[in-house]
Amino acid sequence: MIGLHSVVRGVGSYLPQKVLTNADLAHMVDTSDEWIVQRTGIRERHIAADGEFTSHLGLKAAQAALVDAGLTAADIDLIILATSTPDQTFPATAVTIQYELGITRGAAFDLQAVCSGFVFALATADAHLRMGSFKRALVIGAETFSRILDWQDRGTCVLFGDGAGAVVLEAVPEAEAQGRGLLTSHLRSDGRHRSKLFVDGGPSSTGTVGHLRMEGREVFKHAVGMITDVITDAFAATGQSADSIDWFVPHQANRRIIDASAQKLGIAPEKVVTTVQAHGNTSAASIPLALDVARRDGRIKDGDLVLLEAMGGGFTWGSALLRW
Ligand code: ACO
Repeated sequence: MIGLHSVVRGVGSYLPQKVLTNADLAHMVDTSDEWIVQRTGIRERHIAADGEFTSHLGLKAAQAALVDAGLTAADIDLIILATSTPDQTFPATAVTIQYELGITRGAAFDLQAVCSGFVFALATADAHLRMGSFKRALVIGAETFSRILDWQDRGTCVLFGDGAGAVVLEAVPEAEAQGRGLLTSHLRSDGRHRSKLFVDGGPSSTGTVGHLRMEGREVFKHAVGMITDVITDAFAATGQSADSIDWFVPHQANRRIIDASAQKLGIAPEKVVTTVQAHGNTSAASIPLALDVARRDGRIKDGDLVLLEAMGGGFTWGSALLRW
């Protein structure tokens, strides 16, 4: 069997029109722009309109990624949607996006690893593509966390936002790929931490959707160590290092976590792509949103070495290293 690489062909993203600033939030709960910026780096987030669902956001990001790739929906035979805020309990929201794109072949499914969802989805798509099961995948992260926030809880409602991002991955024979594609991925989870960041509802337990609950300090305490561990694994597996990477595109949860992780790893600040200020924590959507920004503004170029990482509820965490 010929060796295959999963090469990025295109990237796209979408943010809902409505913007909620820190000043707006200060009218809703006892908080301030100063507190939010100092603790998180977030200045504003986007909120889905009434009737605008995760599938709508994901579809727009997927369409933008297809345009960027110079492909059409007919070229896609795999859709993996990372989300914790599906339109419905089932069917998978990926199937709705598949239908809206007019695709009737291949497979589409959702993947749930909370904020780590995009890295988990990328690794899953890569495994399927390299096995030769599919030719081209849309890997989407799309979320409407505004629907599961407790808008009375200032400890959580200021942190999250809605949005979507997507990449098109293509299985390319090794000889043609010329070193491009996903080089390694490292996925982890540890359910001992499952009660530190969770939603207090679900179909099988309460029969309700529930609201996000979090022990912020506990999450913060574990985040940097977990993130740096999986990145160290990525470097060890590939022989790459903080010096050899071109861009670090972390999950956009919190400026302090991003800065502390980069500092611990010795990654120069100018290599770090940070977009959390503009859209808050969009969970599984945050990495492809940041990738799209850095690709469009000319930072990420063909052949660049790009390091991704995420950590989230579960806890789940993971890293991926790719040559664009
Ligand atoms: N505005 C003003 N005050 C607030 C707010 C707010 N929005 N939220 C909490 N406070 C208050 C608290 O009530 C507390 O007041 P008290 O001292 O009178 O009791 C005080 O601020 C300190 O609260 P802490 O929770 O200890 O504040 P901390 O410095 O830990 O910052 C934060 C909170 C920003 C949530 C921090 O713990 C953090 O960043 N945690 C990581 C959480 C995260 O990023 N989660 C995302 C999901 S996981 C992931 O994606 C990695």
